[in-house]
Amino acid sequence: MAKLRIGVIGTANVARQFIADVAPSPTVEIVAVASRDAAKAERFARAAGVARFHASYDALLADRAIDAIYNPLPNSMHAEWTIKAAAAGKHILCEKPLSVTADEARAMFAAARKHGVHLVEAYPYLAHPQTQTMRALLDEGAIGAVKLIRASIGFTVFDPATNIRLNAELAGGALRDCGSYPVSFAIVVAKEKPARVHAAARWAPSGVDHSLVATLEFRSGILAQIACSVAVGSHRHALVAGDGGVLETTFLNHPPLGGPSEIHLKRGNRSDTPRETIAAAGGSGFRLEAEAFQRLVAGDAAAWTGVTAAQSVDIMETLEAILKSAHGGAPVDLPA
Ligand SMILES: NC(=O)c1ccc[n+]([C@@H]2O[C@H](COP(=O)([O-])OP(=O)(O)OC[C@H]3O[C@@H](n4cnc5c(N)ncnc54)[C@H](OP(=O)(O)O)[C@@H]3O)[C@@H](O)[C@H]2O)c1
Repeated sequence: MAKLRIGVIGTANVARQFIADVAPSPTVEIVAVASRDAAKAERFARAAGVARFHASYDALLADRAIDAIYNPLPNSMHAEWTIKAAAAGKHILCEKPLSVTADEARAMFAAARKHGVHLVEAYPYLAHPQTQTMRALLDEGAIGAVKLIRASIGFTVFDPATNIRLNAELAGGALRDCGSYPVSFAIVVAKEKPARVHAAARWAPSGVDHSLVATLEFRSGILAQIACSVAVGSHRHALVAGDGGVLETTFLNHPPLGGPSEIHLKRGNRSDTPRETIAAAGGSGFRLEAEAFQRLVAGDAAAWTGVTAAQSVDIMETLEAILKSAHGGAPVDLPA
């Protein structure tokens, strides 16, 4: 099978990890990188071991030796460059959050459909065996019917003056940055989008949320609480409680960051129900995700275990509603 040849748009920090983790893959190859600055592109390409570099994003999209684009630009630029990549006939693996608004997300998928390319949103934890194990346990009824979901994620931004996460123009903020993880987690576990959200936030001087909590109500009756912050100690944890047990996960992108790849499970409702530790395989979610993307592009739709296009739009509707609620103070209903 021919390797999927990926070009990276921008010299983002996350791209360093992505390129390093994908490097050993037998099915995916990072063949080029682009920067707005030629010298930066060259430095980055040399350090990351990428063969070619381009001095503009447009030049990367015009590169005929590239099948697909990895888009880790600031959030405000995801839609513009994903739509341009689709028009250039490139498949796109776009970093989360897919866009700034749900309307942008719809326009991105419309462009992908129009030009006959695949577009998927990157959440490495959804490709990781730890999350696959959790989903299999939920589907086999290990904790009964899900009733409550609680997911929290946070870390500290040590360079607030320059970090894109605290930049309002680039669509930063804790919710869009790391909060998109617990929101996607709740939507994947509940298997639907919320009907109503209610949020509270604390704001950075730039105007973006540095910390945020939200309650999500689902039509099925499931309730979820999510929390996120870019001003706290590093953590990543989720709990799913059903009418027949409880499951806990770190929904990690790759161990050892975030701890070992395992699920903690209590099958049963008594306080003395034993807590099992279920080990899952390790590996890098970035590599597994890129390899699933390759198989999707090669025609194996079932290989993609990340969010679907409909779920990406649901996530964006939810993020928009949560921010509206955090700003206004009242609950916000989502369209059915
Ligand atoms: N899935 C994950 O686990 C994960 C982890 C981290 C981040 N992310 C996502 O990945 C994206 C990038 O995050 P990051 O922290 O890696 O970003 P970053 O290091 O700040 O890099 C962003 C890149 O975008 C380019 N860029 C273009 N216009 C820019 C502007 N006006 N200001 C700053 N940069 C600009 C720059 O490349 P050039 O200067 O070379 O053009 C820059 O290197 C975000 O969407 C984030 O949510 C995902």
